[in-house]
Amino acid sequence: MVLTNTIIACALALFTASTDAQLVEKKYSSYATDQQNILRHLGGTGPFVEAVGWGIPTETPYQCTIDQAHLFMRHGERYATKGSDKGLRTLYDRLKNTAQNITAVGPLSFVGDESFTFFEEASWHDQETYYGPYAGTGDLFHMGNILRERYAHLVNSSKTLPIFTAGQKRVFDSAVNFANGFTFNQYAQNYTMVVLPENQDSGLNSLTNTNSCPNFDGDYEGAYANQTLQYSTIEAARLNALSPGFNITAADVYNMCGYCAFELDVRGSSPFCDALSQDAMIGFGYDKDISTYYSDGPGYNMSFVSGSAYANATLALLKDNKTEENTYFSFSHDNDLLRYVTFLGFFDIDGDLPVDHVDFYKFYSVSEIIPMGGRLITERLSCYNETSKEDDKFVRFLLNDQVIPFPNCSSGPGYSCPLDSYAEIIESQLLDFPELCAQNTSTPLYTSFYWDWESGKYPTEYTSN
Ligand SMILES: *[C@@H]1O[C@H](CO)[C@@H](O)[C@H](O)[C@H]1NC(C)=O
Ligand SMILES: *[C@@H]1O[C@H](CO)[C@@H](O)[C@H](O)[C@H]1NC(C)=O
Ligand SMILES: *[C@@H]1O[C@H](CO)[C@@H](O)[C@H](O)[C@H]1NC(C)=O
Ligand SMILES: *[C@@H]1O[C@H](CO)[C@@H](O)[C@H](O)[C@H]1NC(C)=O
Ligand SMILES: *[C@@H]1O[C@H](CO)[C@@H](O)[C@H](O)[C@H]1NC(C)=O
Ligand SMILES: *[C@@H]1O[C@H](CO)[C@@H](O)[C@H](O)[C@H]1NC(C)=O
Ligand SMILES: *[C@@H]1O[C@H](CO)[C@@H](O)[C@H](O)[C@H]1NC(C)=O
Ligand SMILES: *[C@@H]1O[C@H](CO)[C@@H](O)[C@H](O)[C@H]1NC(C)=O
Ligand SMILES: *[C@@H]1O[C@H](CO)[C@@H](O)[C@H](O)[C@H]1NC(C)=O
Ligand SMILES: *[C@@H]1O[C@H](CO)[C@@H](O)[C@H](O)[C@H]1NC(C)=O
Ligand SMILES: *[C@@H]1O[C@H](CO)[C@@H](O)[C@H](O)[C@H]1NC(C)=O
Repeated sequence: MVLTNTIIACALALFTASTDAQLVEKKYSSYATDQQNILRHLGGTGPFVEAVGWGIPTETPYQCTIDQAHLFMRHGERYATKGSDKGLRTLYDRLKNTAQNITAVGPLSFVGDESFTFFEEASWHDQETYYGPYAGTGDLFHMGNILRERYAHLVNSSKTLPIFTAGQKRVFDSAVNFANGFTFNQYAQNYTMVVLPENQDSGLNSLTNTNSCPNFDGDYEGAYANQTLQYSTIEAARLNALSPGFNITAADVYNMCGYCAFELDVRGSSPFCDALSQDAMIGFGYDKDISTYYSDGPGYNMSFVSGSAYANATLALLKDNKTEENTYFSFSHDNDLLRYVTFLGFFDIDGDLPVDHVDFYKFYSVSEIIPMGGRLITERLSCYNETSKEDDKFVRFLLNDQVIPFPNCSSGPGYSCPLDSYAEIIESQLLDFPELCAQNTSTPLYTSFYWDWESGKYPTEYTSN
């Protein structure tokens, strides 16, 4: 994580400088290996991976302080959902059975090994993973530690900290783990959970607002319905040639890629990640890119309607001058985060994404946006202006721990956007959620939980409905 790794990098730099390795050690690496990182191609199903970013420092810019911070975060690494787990289990059983009759060779030779066991605990569908290097529970706790360090100056430890969370178990658990990391299990500060049920009755007072948007079609696929990518067919042919006897199909390849991702979430490694070619992983990543692009990204116009509501609520806080509460931590799902950043325009690429080949020249990578544990941080900066001798306000974003410049507005310190300009841009683009969604007008028409969370009307514990 860049926020902590800076310290380690500095320590390493000092160490190497004092040895006589200078002849070969380069102060600045000549190698770019990061795109070969498989985590960049798992398309939202794999463990958290920091965004590539633009190299803009995450430090607070010169003559600025952070005076307000918002976190909008997907839950941590989890087990597969019941539906996708079924496909993985079927694949596992078939391969394992076949290996009893043949001698498995080539990339799939591991199938014959006794150590090849299924990784999912059936009762853990949908839930956070809790052991291994990519455990979702641990990642969330650690995120709490990191943000405590970064935002200690924004909190009053004598006051109870609200933690806003959507109602599903995995989201609630993630929020609790974050809160425990942020407050050292309440030794340093008390917190309270503010649970927003994931149902239609929550209306716009929700972190999962498409539940109250009848016009939002959860099955919408757009152009993805015509997907004709070739990667899985090509990979199946490769595997059948090198590991004959399994009769691998294109659909199996898709499942193997998902298997690789989820087994990493649970166990930290997977033989499928090694068996699949990098070409196939790139194809799979793009497959996920386009499916999400057309279901919850810029390829579906209702995405903007949903995202607009999150942006509007955050903008109201950014414009607020009260000083008592300066951190807002909210937990939800991948698609809500995706619609939010879609509305903000970060991935408003020129023209739609093709569905018949991998288009490398249109930057939209879903692992860059919503890996497990994906997060958007909005920071308000207060910066001293030498000329006017006044403090001016700016806004900047960190998407998956890297600064992401706001489109068309990055004239401020650290490529931030002046708050006034930001407000103008957002306000000119806001959409009428109740109208466009055909929302039930008997349900809340505004987001109010950030302001009225102390009213006692929100559950503070997980409930199953
Ligand atoms: C092995 O092959 C035989 C004959 O094709 C088949 O009947 C049997 O089900 C196979 N066994 C396994 C474990 O797949
Ligand atoms: C912190 O909160 C406590 C309790 O509400 C209050 O008495 C105190 O003045 C606050 N401190 C600051 C620095 O705002
Ligand atoms: C948390 O609340 C309890 C009960 O009100 C109180 O005794 C304790 O001092 C609080 N802890 C902190 C860190 O403020
Ligand atoms: C609209 O919401 C109200 C309040 O939750 C509910 O009683 C009513 O049944 C809803 N109407 C429809 C058509 O869903
Ligand atoms: C799929 O392709 C067909 C044939 O080109 C086209 O008529 C149809 O509109 C496409 N569907 C979508 C959802 O783009
Ligand atoms: C694979 O396909 C071949 C040819 O159709 C068939 O003989 C064989 O039984 C199949 N093997 C499995 C494991 O399905
Ligand atoms: C989305 O596009 C559809 C089809 O073109 C159109 O009917 C609908 O009004 C659009 N909705 C919004 C919110 O722009
Ligand atoms: C709040 O801040 C805005 C912009 O910084 C300023 O124009 C406004 O006067 C302030 N309002 C109050 C009540 O301080
Ligand atoms: C940025 O500005 C251009 C030109 O004015 C405009 O076409 C584009 O939509 C803007 N992008 C965003 C994300 O607002
Ligand atoms: C600083 O203030 C001057 C005078 O008000 C203004 O022209 C300039 O744009 C400000 N600089 C920044 C970075 O906002
Ligand atoms: C944005 O939120 C404010 C309340 O903070 C509300 O008055 C306004 O109607 C909202 N705008 C839209 C377009 O939803």
